Order: sequence, then C-alpha cells, then structure tokens
Amino acid sequence: NSRPIFPFPANEPTCDYAPGSAAREALERHLADRTVVDVPAVIGGRKIYSDDVETVHAPHDRSRVLARIHRPSAAQVAEAIQSNLEAAHDWARMDFADRAAIMHRAAAIIRGRMRHRINAATMLGQSKILDEAEADSACELIDFLHFNTHSAQRVVQEQPLTVASAQNRTDWRPLEGFVYAVSPFNFTAIGTNLTCAPALMGNVVLWKPSMKSAWANHLFFEALEEAGLPPGVINFVPGDARMVTDAVYGSRDFAGLHFTGSSEVFRSLWKRAAAGIDQYRTFPRIVGETGGKDFVLVHRSAHPEEVAVALLKGAFGYQGQKCSAASRAYVPASLWPAVRGTLCDLLAGWRVGDVADAATDMGAVIDETSFRKLASRLAAAKGDPGVKVISGGRCSDEVGYFVDPTVLQVDDPGHALMKEELFGPVLSVHVYADADWSDLLHVVDSTSDYALTGSIFCTERAALLQAQDVLVHAAGNLYVNDKPTGAVVGQQPFGGGRASGTNDKAASWMNLVRWTSPRVVKETY
Ligand code: SER
Repeated sequence: NSRPIFPFPANEPTCDYAPGSAAREALERHLADRTVVDVPAVIGGRKIYSDDVETVHAPHDRSRVLARIHRPSAAQVAEAIQSNLEAAHDWARMDFADRAAIMHRAAAIIRGRMRHRINAATMLGQSKILDEAEADSACELIDFLHFNTHSAQRVVQEQPLTVASAQNRTDWRPLEGFVYAVSPFNFTAIGTNLTCAPALMGNVVLWKPSMKSAWANHLFFEALEEAGLPPGVINFVPGDARMVTDAVYGSRDFAGLHFTGSSEVFRSLWKRAAAGIDQYRTFPRIVGETGGKDFVLVHRSAHPEEVAVALLKGAFGYQGQKCSAASRAYVPASLWPAVRGTLCDLLAGWRVGDVADAATDMGAVIDETSFRKLASRLAAAKGDPGVKVISGGRCSDEVGYFVDPTVLQVDDPGHALMKEELFGPVLSVHVYADADWSDLLHVVDSTSDYALTGSIFCTERAALLQAQDVLVHAAGNLYVNDKPTGAVVGQQPFGGGRASGTNDKAASWMNLVRWTSPRVVKETY
C-alpha cells in the first residue's frame, strides 16, 4: 500500500507564553488591537460582505466592539448549497491522502503563523483565559485535524475478505448531498471538528457557526483556504439560525446534520428533519452532541482535597460554559466539611475579570441572555429554603456579564438545580448520609436526564464497580478520581447519551463512519 501514513504520535504541546517571551508579546499585540474585524460569509470561495451586520462585543467588556459579522441573505445561503453541490463530485473523488494533506497544512498554519491571532480572537470573543484558549483554539483544534486524519485512514483501509472466487472491496463513499454543520460558541475547535470530520470523508459542508465564535472560526476557515481547500467544499454562512436552517431543510440534498449545541435546538432540528423526510433524497444522518448536567459522585473513601480541586476546575473552568462542566455533586456528610473548606479557600483566591489580565481565573458569561438567566436562577435559589449559598452568588453586568463562581447546597436531590443545565458557573451540591451510598446511586441515575460526563471519586474497588454498574447509562464519558471535563482528542473519544446527544464519539472512527455511505463491490471473473 503506497498510501502515505498519518501517524498520531502525541497531542499538540502547549505553547509557552512566558512573560516577556516573543509568543507572549505577539499575543498581547493581538489582544490590544482595537481594530473592528469584518467577518464575511464565504461561499464558493467568494467573500460576501452584506448590509445585514451583527456586531459582536467582548463579554467581559461590553463597550468593546470586536467584530461585525456579515450575515448572508436567504438567496445567498441557497447559492451556498448550490456551490457545495457543485464541488461535491471532485472532492469525493480526490484521493484521501490529498484531502488529509489539506487538513495537515491547515493545522500547520494554525500552529505556526496563526496561533496567537486565533487564541486572541477566542479569548476576546468567548471570554476565555489564555490557558483555556490555547487548549481550545490551538491544541484541540490541531489535534482534531491530526487525529481525525489518522483515524479516517484506518476507516478507509478497512476492507472485506477477498477469496479465490470473489474480489471484494468497500468504497468509502461520502453521503449523497451536503452536510449541515452547526457549531457552538464555547469551543473554537468544535467548529473545526464538525466541518472537517465530514469533509475528510469526502463530504461537502455548509457551516453555520455561532455568531459569538464566528471571528475565531473564520480565522480557521482562512487557514483551510490557504491550505488548499477547493472553493465550495466548505461554505461559511454565519447567518440567522432559522433562516439558514430553513434553506437547508428545504433542499432535497440535505444529507446529514453535524451539531453541537443545546438539547432543545437539537430536538427541534430532529423534528424538522422528520417532518421533511418525504422530500429528501436520502435519510439524513443526524449526529449531535448537546447539553449535560454532569455529576461528581464522591464516596466516603475519597480524598477531600482532590475532590475540592476537581470541583473548582470542573465546575468553574470557562465559567461552567461546557457541556461537560461539573454542575452537580454528591458528597458524603463525613467529607463535606473538608471538601467545603478547601473549595471555599480556593474560591477566595479565584479572580473573575478581564481575560487579557494574566491574573484572571475566570472571564464573563457569553451574553446578556445567559447573564439574565443565571441571575434569575440565583435570585430564586437565594429565596429557596431548601437551598443554601455556600459561596458566590453575586452577578454584575456593569462592565461585562460577570457571574461569581457559586456553590449551592441543595437539600432535595430531585431539585431542578440538581437536574437542569444552567451553562454557567453554578455548582449544586447534595450532601448525603454516608450509609446511603447504594440508594444514592439509584437517585443519581434516575435524576440523570442528561448523560454526558460524570466523575466518581472513590478508592474502594467494590464501591467503584457498583457505581459503574448502576450508572451504566448515566454518562458517555466517565472519569474515576478526576474532574468530568477536558476530554483529550485521541485519548478520550467524547459524547453521551440520553438528552446529551447521539453519542457518536467526537474524535474517533465512530464519528467518521457516520459521514460515509459505503459501497461494497464484489468482482468475479
Ligand atoms: N470536550 C470538552 C470537554 O471534555 C467539552 O466539549 O470538556
């Protein structure tokens, strides 16, 4: 086999942004640059600037305008679909290794020239501190491109048995039509994966990014174009969600949805796909990763300091705006004083503020809608006799949309605060009697409407196995003695069930095969 090999020897190392280093200075220049960026739609390789512009502000500094996103019209989205379809034939027939090489070149551009710029755009646009931006828009983004290429190569090499009487082969064809990729604001890298995983398998993709991340997503799109992505293979349409979706669902060539976002939006996209099923040429592939209410379950054998650190990082990293965030914890009464004490001490030194300031631990929540929802939930919690505020609870939108990291103690494990996703820096803790461990496992399972991630802190093997058994469907990614966030590409394929999505594991062959419609050929002579 002469096909080039795409190994994946290691994850992308983080850049050392030491104070005074050239990397730090370059990053700081981008952070300080007040130029308002115009982000166009890109259709068939043409940049489209329109009069219909959405202005994006920094969430931690509402007075700072970052970008103007140029929304395409309905007619332009229809053109984009047409341009996707025109690009489909040649892209599908391009050798896999050539498609893969484009992804690798795009990764090299991000790693080299573009790293500081895309990190700055992620920090400012999504209110992410540097470490979190570097982990997202540099390391994870590059890892997605490299690891998907590595995994996809193994998929396309998978071939059936050939015998004397029959030569058999699988043609790993893409889907017939186009894939609709809808990406969220919270990770720049997710937009890369939602588009490039199907594209690598030979599909053409219509990409609707969140407006909040469109600036950083567009920088990646520029890297892809420079890497040689042919016009029309991926079209970038940062448009009104309803309008773009109407155009997609009105096309008979809609062949698949690759989605990350809320469960509510995903359900509505499912229903609409079902309602239109008679008009599509194929049954669309629907792949989605949605919300979470991720648990941290603590056994009496756990180390309380480790639990407190995991709660701090798991609940409040990126303001809790992760589908994987630790948002509910179950702590035995014997450990609660030590866990609470350490967590409150850690939070006392936790700084909320401007993400460009190196001393900041946590930025602002993404926008006014999110801020208002969190403020109203916290106000209700304060007036609830079954809820005690252990730490935080304050909100202020004077400068930016700041919500303090908040720990609530909740008496009833069936309370909405233990079940509903808030997508903010709020951790609900239920304290249980140590002896109730076995019953508690069933309570955790029955209150897990979502089933994305979860952690079990436990050093007794029997109790750990019992918990894994009862909670078999309560998490798609389970962490033992670690926080439930921060899945690493190539190490922990990511996704969950129940209301958390279709569990087609991002960053794995399990996701990549969804973007194929294989043809098996038997040849006899
Ligand atoms: N993959 C991220 C995590 O594991 C969430 O999208 O935290």
